[in-house]
Amino acid sequence: MVYAVDSDPVAVRVPGKINLALRVGPRADDGYHPLVSIFQAVSVFDEIRVTPARVGQVTCEVSGPQASLVPTDERNLAVKAARHLAERLEDVPCGVHIEIRKQIPVAGGMAGGSADAAGTLLACSTLWQAGLTLHDLALLGSALGSDVPFPLTGGVAVGTGRGDELVPALCRGSFHWVLALSDGALSTPVVYRHFDELGQFTEPLDVPTELMNGLATGDPEQVGAHLVNDLQTAALSLRPQLQRVLDIGADHGVLGALVSGSGPTVALLVADEQAAIDVSVSLSTEGECRAVQRVSGPVPGARIIG
Ligand code: C5P
Repeated sequence: MVYAVDSDPVAVRVPGKINLALRVGPRADDGYHPLVSIFQAVSVFDEIRVTPARVGQVTCEVSGPQASLVPTDERNLAVKAARHLAERLEDVPCGVHIEIRKQIPVAGGMAGGSADAAGTLLACSTLWQAGLTLHDLALLGSALGSDVPFPLTGGVAVGTGRGDELVPALCRGSFHWVLALSDGALSTPVVYRHFDELGQFTEPLDVPTELMNGLATGDPEQVGAHLVNDLQTAALSLRPQLQRVLDIGADHGVLGALVSGSGPTVALLVADEQAAIDVSVSLSTEGECRAVQRVSGPVPGARIIG
């Protein structure tokens, strides 16, 4: 037993994601939807810092622009992740205080909560010297939520099953995105329920070949032309104002735009940094979103820092 309550804190940086393609099949008997998702990790990061605490104690604090929207109790996915890992490590006296510095939009369709859970799994397994591989952590993560494994690997990946069965995908170069961040959240289960009501599911769930080719050859125009999200109609119907953001992007000739995941964040793909600045200025001037952020991807998955 090497872990000690005076062990040094461990800090991890973990990225958010955009779904470049999200094809969703009809709801299965377990309540989940089979899907094919092409994930790209992008350069908006949360930081997770874990400090030893009394055995059995898991506490959490959150800072950042949307911190007031994030619960710090057992509802927080990072707290669930720490407890889940601690249960697995029966012979280690686990206790932890988790500090989350949040930059990824809260309930924005960018897997922010899942990223925090992924970062916490990596940080706590390091703090508690659990000797787990990334694969072990991804398996633990998939029990917490469908989007938890991806932030561990980062880069670009094809997700199948519930979105948690990942295969890395080829991607050349760097893609420039403008994120239009909205006020308020969209609940993922609510968006999926509305999707069920609309009945516009995809079958069969094929991997989008043109998009994959565009990523492999580093061709942003081809990627932009094949961005697709089956949840977008449901998200737009619940939040019609998002259409205006898509329209502003189209007016600027962006290469492609879509609601990310279950929304409400809209991701606009542009050719270069200058185009990103132009689109950002227009979106800010029109006042259609809470904030605008320029990011690029792919970026690596969760990493220990400091
Ligand atoms: O897996 P996770 O707990 O993050 O999913 C949140 C909710 O999103 C689920 O309760 C379900 O309503 C919906 N979901 C789904 N099909 C998926 C992934 C998520 O219906 N493949």
